[in-house]
Amino acid sequence: MLYLSGMKHLLIKSISNLLQVREEKTMKISGREMSVLPCIEDAWLEIKDGIIYDYGKMDDFNKVLTDEVTVIDASGKIVLPCWVDSHTHIVYAGSRESEFVDRIKGLSYQEIAIRGGGILNSAKKLEKTSEEELIITALERINEMIVLGTGAIEIKSGYGLNTDNELKILRVIKKLKEHTPVQIKATFLGAHAIPPEYKSEKRKYIDIIINEMIPKIADEKLADYCDVFCERGYYNEAECVEILEAGKKYGLIPKAHTEQLSHSGGTQAAVKCGAISVDHLEYLNDEDIAALRFTETMPTILPGAQWFLSLPYPPARKIIDSGLPLAIASDYNPGSSPSGNMNFMLSLACVQYNLTPEEAINAATINSAYAINLSDKLGSIRKGNIANIIITKRIPSYAYIPYWFAHNPVDATIINGELMHINCQ
Ligand code: NIG
Ligand code: FE
Repeated sequence: MLYLSGMKHLLIKSISNLLQVREEKTMKISGREMSVLPCIEDAWLEIKDGIIYDYGKMDDFNKVLTDEVTVIDASGKIVLPCWVDSHTHIVYAGSRESEFVDRIKGLSYQEIAIRGGGILNSAKKLEKTSEEELIITALERINEMIVLGTGAIEIKSGYGLNTDNELKILRVIKKLKEHTPVQIKATFLGAHAIPPEYKSEKRKYIDIIINEMIPKIADEKLADYCDVFCERGYYNEAECVEILEAGKKYGLIPKAHTEQLSHSGGTQAAVKCGAISVDHLEYLNDEDIAALRFTETMPTILPGAQWFLSLPYPPARKIIDSGLPLAIASDYNPGSSPSGNMNFMLSLACVQYNLTPEEAINAATINSAYAINLSDKLGSIRKGNIANIIITKRIPSYAYIPYWFAHNPVDATIINGELMHINCQ
């Protein structure tokens, strides 16, 4: 990765297509509107002091350029807002490829979890790993995500499963903010699994989450959100509501993992709590879709986890066709989605769930920014927004991004107005 800091004033010219241009403040895009991606062909974009300063058509370009301006020629290239990855678990220790092999040989994700694998396996590894090591490995993942065009990331705890280790992960997330320019939001996910020592006393662990973890996390201002894995064998609807409501009392905004491995009822429970997003949704049904209408909750699909675990497809088309918004995130984690490649997530969503490229790009920019309360300043090209920008390689059209699956279409990523890397191709 090539770091080119110090360029405070950039002018990207001769852009073949500037995508996701929203002059009006837009918080999220729903239903039919998702098939519209506002663009300017043959455009320029000016970035100053970290902010999108101005843009327009090349035909109307009349700026006088001083020596301080770094000019980038984007002929044949597409420019768009960086991907926003609103759901990840990238602070983790070790890896779980042996479970991947077990699944190839016929075991299910649930069977592996019951044997002490899965989330509990990652918790055991994390306990033995220092904060420094967790910071280094998470930064490696973030740097790779930047090269792939991601500019803002939500990161969850959930591999701690006791007060010390949950706080350790959240402190690591806080430190990451000092080491990377990427915008980071933190989510407390103490209710990710039931620690083995509380296997037959889940109530006691929930009490620790509510009475010990949440107050300490709030006291140290370590998280923005509180999340629960609402699933058979994990946390039921009532427990989900109880934990999310407890978080709310301390200012933590609710989020939830719902309807991933079965129909858990978590979506409707989380909606009642005013969740900002419900994520996964493989088993989402028509009543859930109805319950999501006229709410502020962002349905979020995680195509990497669905694909990697060979789960049923979430009803993404139905969600959009019912007039709802939809976001896409990577769920980057060692068990169900060991990839933070948002370009590939878009390909999966288009190929498997019949999203159009316009819908997928809206889902992975402005709508995923909404899911972490950032769409007022990220996820669209608007004057005054933070300049998190992708410049693609020379590609014929934006449909080429999901079409060219498993490649990296990103040539350069700009974060906070600073050129972070240029692929040397
Ligand atoms: O989002 N579903 C629950 N949690 C993660 C998986 C975590 C793991 O297997 O380590 C998910 O898919
Ligand atoms: Fe997750």
